[in-house]
Amino acid sequence: MDIHYLGHSAFEIITKGKKVLIDPFLVCVPNYRPENISDIFVTHGHGDHLGSAVEISARVGAPITAIFELANYCAKKGASAIDMGLGSWREYSWGRAILVPAFHSSTTPDGQYGGCPCGVVMEIEGRKIYHAGDTCLNSEMKTIGELYSPEIVMLPIGGKYTMDIEHAAKAAEWLRATVVIPMHYNTFDPIKVDIEEFKRQIRETGKIPAVIPVDGVLPNVLNG
Ligand code: NI
Ligand code: MN
Repeated sequence: MDIHYLGHSAFEIITKGKKVLIDPFLVCVPNYRPENISDIFVTHGHGDHLGSAVEISARVGAPITAIFELANYCAKKGASAIDMGLGSWREYSWGRAILVPAFHSSTTPDGQYGGCPCGVVMEIEGRKIYHAGDTCLNSEMKTIGELYSPEIVMLPIGGKYTMDIEHAAKAAEWLRATVVIPMHYNTFDPIKVDIEEFKRQIRETGKIPAVIPVDGVLPNVLNG
């Protein structure tokens, strides 16, 4: 399995010839060509997460999985969509996924109600991955840690709209993560952080070998 960080909260996960996109807001990778996409996940309706999901889905046919209201919105805009609620696994050609709570808000770019914001846990090749979406630190993360022990966690760290560095380090502990991938930082001025300080706080937990994405592509530790 390869995980590529595409900037902000966008990721591409490649597994056995299948490609899954999460929150494809692609301003950080203007030359990115979405090809051979199997599925797209969108955590909530804000533009910096919905991104190009509808356009990609309409062009390549990959369905967007999202919470009920947001999935219906995407379908109305011309995407193929899979609507889900929180809390039960759905099987895919590449593994399975479950939507979990995020504490945030969600409207679509044109101001419609986007349903509840979500995170997503995926099981791929026997490994659990958790993308938190936009959220504050919350005790659901203890439950996610207990139920799934996600090995790889993508956590927002930029503050202002989401958790900050301090709370993200605590979240990583609660989640029992092995690998932490920070996201939702430094893309815009209000979410500027000192990434070295985040690394320091993760080290201080004494439990988590953090991995920090560099230039959009993660080190090989996640491959294979
Ligand atoms: Ni948001
Ligand atoms: Mn956001």
